[in-house]
Amino acid sequence: MKFFIDTANLDQIKQARDLGVLDGVTTNPSLMAKEGISGQDNILEHYLKICELVDGDVSAEVISTDFEGMVKEGELLAQIHKNIVVKVPMIQEGVKAISHFTRQGIPTNCTLVFSPGQAILAAKAGAKYLSPFIGRVDDITWDGMDLIEKIVGIYMNYGFNTQILAASVRNSLHIVKCAELGVDVVTCPLSAITGLAKHPLTDIGLAKFLADHKKSNG
Ligand code: E4P
Repeated sequence: MKFFIDTANLDQIKQARDLGVLDGVTTNPSLMAKEGISGQDNILEHYLKICELVDGDVSAEVISTDFEGMVKEGELLAQIHKNIVVKVPMIQEGVKAISHFTRQGIPTNCTLVFSPGQAILAAKAGAKYLSPFIGRVDDITWDGMDLIEKIVGIYMNYGFNTQILAASVRNSLHIVKCAELGVDVVTCPLSAITGLAKHPLTDIGLAKFLADHKKSNG
């Protein structure tokens, strides 16, 4: 199971990298805007900084919604660094662009996926990664994990090469549930990754070990 961090914040990327468990990064236009990164040159430069921090795939999203625009943007993004994965929205023009990038050998991450049908289409087009959004499905009181389970089953039926990259992960339990389903990659906020370490019995046990050591060693 690979862990990606879902942020454009360089400090958080460094913190996750320093845990030694980070396999890649995903970003989106909202996350870039949150960091105050704007203007094409600054955006490209920021992606390069991220690539230099992490030895793993870095998803950089196109903002065009037409095929020609996506191709132009994707080719520019792919030139930044060998680890860039072009993130393309699941719309009809996006499917066409993913097919094009696949033929060109440019890896893609198909984003904004909310149904098994979309997952089938992205795999057929040759996306390297598929990003179904768990949290946003939960937000509308559907079951995000149910979506993941359906996609895992379909991909297993056909041996699709596309890796399932569970996105919109909001907490540590989402990560554990994805692991139970055999999801290839989870992209999460730093808090969901560090939350995996937490257990009250660990804290109680450690306090007792340290107290016992102090008693016998002064
Ligand atoms: C996917 O790669 C997106 O960047 C992300 O996971 C969306 O998460 P959100 O629903 O918490 O914004």
